[in-house]
Amino acid sequence: MAADDILAEGGSDAPPETIDLRRELTETHAQEVLDELDRELVGLAPVKARIRQIAALLVVDRVRRRLGLLSETPTLHMSFTGNPGTGKTTVALRMAEILHKLGYIRKGHLVSVTRDDLVGQYIGHTAPKTKEILKKAMGGVLFIDEAYYLYRQENERDYGQEAIEILLQVMENQREDLVVILAGYADRMDQFFRSNPGFRSRIAHHIDFPDYSDGELMSIATTMLAAQSYKFSLAGAAAFESYIAARRQQPLFSNARSIRNALDRARLRHANRHFEQAGPVLLEDLMTIDAPDVLASRVFRARPDQIDSFDR
Ligand SMILES: Nc1ncnc2c1ncn2[C@@H]1O[C@H](COP(=O)(O)OP(=O)(O)O)[C@@H](O)[C@H]1O
Ligand SMILES: [Mg+2]
Repeated sequence: MAADDILAEGGSDAPPETIDLRRELTETHAQEVLDELDRELVGLAPVKARIRQIAALLVVDRVRRRLGLLSETPTLHMSFTGNPGTGKTTVALRMAEILHKLGYIRKGHLVSVTRDDLVGQYIGHTAPKTKEILKKAMGGVLFIDEAYYLYRQENERDYGQEAIEILLQVMENQREDLVVILAGYADRMDQFFRSNPGFRSRIAHHIDFPDYSDGELMSIATTMLAAQSYKFSLAGAAAFESYIAARRQQPLFSNARSIRNALDRARLRHANRHFEQAGPVLLEDLMTIDAPDVLASRVFRARPDQIDSFDR
């Protein structure tokens, strides 16, 4: 229906058309993705709130366009800032789904890249590399992790500049077919935007991912275990709480990713503990991560300067 139809209708005796925005969100199934995001991700209240706001904006924009109200393709490029393991990639995947369900991108897939995927080593290699990735990402979301590595201030002839120029052009001209999400540490991203105002002006939404509290990391741990039919014993849970407190103080701590890695190690120790012990095991044992499975971690022994990897 065109805008003048609405005006004409308003002038007649017919009741003005009403639009149920919530139904719109449900009918596109975007609401389901929002609900899943709420359910599956622990904490992240400010991030979830921002995503709901963006979804609301897009639903209104969609309805307005359908009714013929003036509107240009909204800019949807975003930046996700935060420390490693705070959920940026996970949320970007959900964002791609939401954008697809609301009809903003054709396919809704996510292509995740870093500098090395875009920038070549030799003259003439960068443009084809960047264009190849863009081709793959069209109709979806291009997620550029640690985007600031594209730009090297100290080196004017850095090939990264070539990738940046191509990206900026596509972000401007193919807005209706590609959404770019730039991700990385907040401070470095800030600096990157200061040196590259072209990027900043093309980003519509900046979302900050806070570090998780100890309690949130504990909930993340129990959620991850439950997803694989494991649980902590009481002593196991207490041990893991002290693990979190200790791990946070050590280098290369990466929030929920450190938790995932720690649980992988705990399951390994759990399996070996039962393998080595004589006699049969109970179903309950096969499900239960106990204190020894956690306390054997190097995190409780090593000095910080001896730690070279978070994967232990
Ligand atoms: N809030 C959360 N609840 C549950 N799991 C989470 C949460 N945030 C992150 N994770 C998990 O932690 C891991 C790292 O998350 P990821 O999205 O890759 O972080 P980032 O991209 O910020 O480094 C993934 O396995 C993800 O499923
Ligand atoms: Mg990531």
